[in-house]
Amino acid sequence: MNIIKVKDQDLGGKEAFNIIATAIKNGAKVLGLATGSSPITMYNEMTNSDIDFSNMTSVNLDEYVGLKADNDQSYHYFMNEHLFSKKPFKNSYVPDGSNPDAAAATSEYDKIIADNPIDVQVLGIGRNGHIGFNEPGSPLDGKTSKVALTESTIEANKRFFDDEKDVPRYAYSMGIGSIMKAKKIILVAYGENKADAIAKTVNGPVTEDVPASALQNHPDVTLILDDAAASKL
Ligand code: GLP
Repeated sequence: MNIIKVKDQDLGGKEAFNIIATAIKNGAKVLGLATGSSPITMYNEMTNSDIDFSNMTSVNLDEYVGLKADNDQSYHYFMNEHLFSKKPFKNSYVPDGSNPDAAAATSEYDKIIADNPIDVQVLGIGRNGHIGFNEPGSPLDGKTSKVALTESTIEANKRFFDDEKDVPRYAYSMGIGSIMKAKKIILVAYGENKADAIAKTVNGPVTEDVPASALQNHPDVTLILDDAAASKL
């Protein structure tokens, strides 16, 4: 794993953007994108750049089950707000959280991933080591599935909702097997509350207990970390 240490999240956003910009120059056409607060500075760099994404495709990692695209807590909404409204892509895919039929929603998304092989996948990381919404215990070779969010994730994500009881309990998430098929992976993590997860990701055993540890088996992963997130390495 390649590790880039940065002073703060703004500089991390620039580093992540540079990797993406270089990949695009070298022909990348499909970006795998993530939500959460960590990639926001990278999206700011993308929207402030002069890169035209309108002939590119994006495939997002996950979406809450039960939220429609126009719900301001949905990941559809987040992506429109931070990126797509300013820099439209030719096609932008996010799992359909409004579809209550999990078998249909997940198989439809697997077809989208198969039709659009990901050149660069951007990831954040959960405090428990989750990537996308693949919580501890998720199969390391899994496809898109409906996942039950853990208490730790509900607790971490409640800051975005008026009330903890409003946090959806389920999500559709691209599987770790699909994430691992991306040609290149960038994981961004900032702050002390990610330090344990990062230490286990880099130095721990590869185990379903720490979903991000699967990345040790990928040939092209770059971790962009501030000092606090890297403090237990
Ligand atoms: C959510 C998302 C993850 C993200 C994580 C961390 O659970 N499903 O993709 O990595 O939050 O978010 P943050 O970057 O806000 O800490």
